[in-house]
Amino acid sequence: MRLLIINGPNLNMLGVREPDIYGRQTLADLEALVREHCGPLGVTPAFFQSNHEGALVDIIQQAYGQQDGLIINPAAYTHTSVAILDALKAVGLPAVEVHLSDPTAREPFRHHSHITPACIAAIRGKGFAGYLDAVDLLVRHIRGQA
Ligand code: DQA
Repeated sequence: MRLLIINGPNLNMLGVREPDIYGRQTLADLEALVREHCGPLGVTPAFFQSNHEGALVDIIQQAYGQQDGLIINPAAYTHTSVAILDALKAVGLPAVEVHLSDPTAREPFRHHSHITPACIAAIRGKGFAGYLDAVDLLVRHIRGQA
């Protein structure tokens, strides 16, 4: 099973960026953790990070026919991007939305997600563990369909 893990803007700054909210571990640490978790599950993960909305749309489109599922932390685009919502709907792949923090417990402008309607689940506020839960959920969902 192939899963693409997509991280949006400023997540390349993990470890430096607001460590009180996002922790001190880096994006490379996160990717290594996910990779380790995927191995015994027979999942092949691929990773993509961009600060650009169009690049995120492009990679979602490219996943069509190539990946079995998507994990996406759209970061700030969560709260603004109809384009990412539409891309997820267009490819129709099972997707899980992940946030390190719980945006619904932060500033009001973070409370709404444009992305959730295109996802089978949204996992918030569990830090890196949220990505591992997302892998487990997608594996159950995709294998359950087989
Ligand atoms: C985030 C939450 C968003 O509100 C924020 O803009 C981010 C990160 C999270 O992982 O907690 O960049 O998606």
